[in-house]
Amino acid sequence: MKGVILAGGLGSRLRPLTLVTNKHLLPVYDRPMIYYPLECLLAAGIDEILIVTGGEHAGDFLKLLGNGKLLGLRDLHYTYQEGEGGIAEALQLAEDFAEGGKICVILGDNIIEKNIRQAVGEFFTQPRGAKILLKEVEHPERFGVAKIENDRIVQIIEKPKDPPSNYAVTGIYMYDNDVFDITRTLEPSERGELEITDVNNEYLRRGTLTFDILDGWWTDAGTFESLHRAGNLVAERGANATRIVEMKSLAEALATRP
Ligand code: DAU
Repeated sequence: MKGVILAGGLGSRLRPLTLVTNKHLLPVYDRPMIYYPLECLLAAGIDEILIVTGGEHAGDFLKLLGNGKLLGLRDLHYTYQEGEGGIAEALQLAEDFAEGGKICVILGDNIIEKNIRQAVGEFFTQPRGAKILLKEVEHPERFGVAKIENDRIVQIIEKPKDPPSNYAVTGIYMYDNDVFDITRTLEPSERGELEITDVNNEYLRRGTLTFDILDGWWTDAGTFESLHRAGNLVAERGANATRIVEMKSLAEALATRP
């Protein structure tokens, strides 16, 4: 399965930091934010990756990651989203890259403690549809939230004022190739974006959406508060020596980069 990291958008909630670089290159503890979704996909055995980025500082990704070989990637591709028309709009740019196959998508500002290998394996054998990962959180109103009845998701609501559960939809999504047809049918939401929640609700309507509960902690890093929290969580994870990718070899590889 191929992987897609969505790292577009203008990062306006993190200004002035994002005036000088892309949000996903800001430091989270000891590494740029983009390393974490890369690490998440790599740890799940996905080493053919497309990064969708945007904004004025997109070139900085190339400076940092090059062709991805030194990070252990088989193939690293880039594409560019004009403006910030939403997560589902950014995803549309991955259609050619997907080549008709299934994809695992992760938002560039999502960071997890453990790994998604098992969920990816399950989705690999799922005949069709989509799979999402949920996580219980304290402030579900900041996220897409699953309404659950009899252990089944019946609806996903984007940033509900009155959340129907504490289960946030994390920014890790697995889709079959129907996702591109679905994104073509979307209308912009009130905030002017093509919403990934509308995509997931369409799979729900078709009866082909499965879900798992994510193990370990999960955070986004798109606000000052969550960026700070992410740094602390990663620092603690490091102290417990539970990092997914062996950072020593990564650091060595980067040090010897020409
Ligand atoms: O973090 C999980 C949440 O992410 C989900 O629970 C929500 O359902 C989903 O809508 C999203 O919510 P946010 O409002 O937090 O998303 P945000 O606009 O901060 O974008 C998250 C990432 O998506 C961002 O780091 C880069 C990518 N993105 C976003 C937009 C708006 C793009 O690549 N292009 C875009 O146009």
